[in-house]
Amino acid sequence: MEKRKLEKLGIETSLLGFGCMRFPTTPDGKIDEAEAERMMDKAIASGVNYIDTAYPYHNGESEPLVGKVLKKYDRSSFYLATKLPLWAVKSVDDAKRIFEEQLQRLQTDYIDFYLLHAVNKEKWEEMKALGVVDYCAKLKEEGKIRYYGFSFHDDYEVFDEIIRYRDWDFCQIQYNYMDTEEQAGDKGYALAESLGIPLVIMEPIKGGSLANFSDDINAKFREMDPDKSIASYALRWVGSHSNVKVILSGMSTMQQVEDNLKTFIDFSPLSDEEENKIKAIVEELRSRVQNGCTGCRYCMPCPAGVNIPGNFQVWNRYHMYRTYDHVKGAWEKELKDEEKAKNCIKCGKCEALCPQKLSIRDNLVQVQKDLDERIFA
Ligand SMILES: NC(=O)c1ccc[n+]([C@@H]2O[C@H](COP(=O)([O-])OP(=O)(O)OC[C@H]3O[C@@H](n4cnc5c(N)ncnc54)[C@H](OP(=O)(O)O)[C@@H]3O)[C@@H](O)[C@H]2O)c1
Repeated sequence: MEKRKLEKLGIETSLLGFGCMRFPTTPDGKIDEAEAERMMDKAIASGVNYIDTAYPYHNGESEPLVGKVLKKYDRSSFYLATKLPLWAVKSVDDAKRIFEEQLQRLQTDYIDFYLLHAVNKEKWEEMKALGVVDYCAKLKEEGKIRYYGFSFHDDYEVFDEIIRYRDWDFCQIQYNYMDTEEQAGDKGYALAESLGIPLVIMEPIKGGSLANFSDDINAKFREMDPDKSIASYALRWVGSHSNVKVILSGMSTMQQVEDNLKTFIDFSPLSDEEENKIKAIVEELRSRVQNGCTGCRYCMPCPAGVNIPGNFQVWNRYHMYRTYDHVKGAWEKELKDEEKAKNCIKCGKCEALCPQKLSIRDNLVQVQKDLDERIFA
């Protein structure tokens, strides 16, 4: 198993971390506990020593299951990470109560890696003002947590502000070969490295999006090596960055556990040739984007209630990946019917405001048509 030294903390972690957000489930939506335990046991037996869970995962079932499974292992043989759900915290007392509950759920008296969960600008300001950021620092002084960090979902500028605010032990960011300019991105990676702050990576396969593409793109990966899974290239791309110390994968089947173990037991960074091929694939994927909506929201609010950037995001992703699976959730669940492109009344107010000068009205017609006709399977 590939291991990485976290020089700042004087410890060593397995490069593959078990993300406990995507366990297999039974038909009633509960965790399939027997299978999840088998998967965790397999990973641990193969050298995985970093387990990442959080208060809300699987509707609150993830932490108790992780506690139950890890109980049979020597407490010093693994690193346990969990997170404070900021959206449920309105006072330091809330944070205290939730932390105590987490210790109970996880059947432990300390957490190795404790994170402020999903920090963005708004939550950051709120948590600072409430004293929650300082409260978690106190948990470390008291030995209840060993390392203090945050997981991040916002733009680079916000990341820059938060990461410089205090001497964090580590932080967790979303990073993969498609998201180099999203969220913290390449700039965030470089900044953390320059500050000597070790990185834990979430969504290395972009939630599964980088495990399967349209046939033409899949063929380009297979040409490199037909025996390697497409997901393995995404994991190796992330692992080729030396300040990445843990790559969390939310594995949902034993097959995925086995495939990812194969990638990390015999880990090799990408060769220059592989890296160039992936770069070309990324360019090809990006060239399929239909319009240059940047999501700046200058066009909003729309008088007819259309979520203009939301529709364009789905549309661009649909063309990029050319499979309906990639956008099914966003189109069918996240984007409400009243926000869909079909509600456009063609007033043109948005076009006067768009800094990219997009033909928003024509594009919205096309969005609805492409998705209604399901032009890609
Ligand atoms: N702090 C935060 O705000 C935050 C946010 C997100 C995640 N996380 C943590 O980070 C972990 C990793 O994020 P993630 O779960 O989004 O990771 P990910 O690795 O990007 O995506 C996981 C998904 O990728 C697919 N996959 C994994 N291995 C595969 C393989 N070998 N072959 C084919 N498909 C494969 C599966 O998709 P299918 O199930 O569709 O097959 C799996 O559910 C989470 O589990 C969680 O612990 C934290």
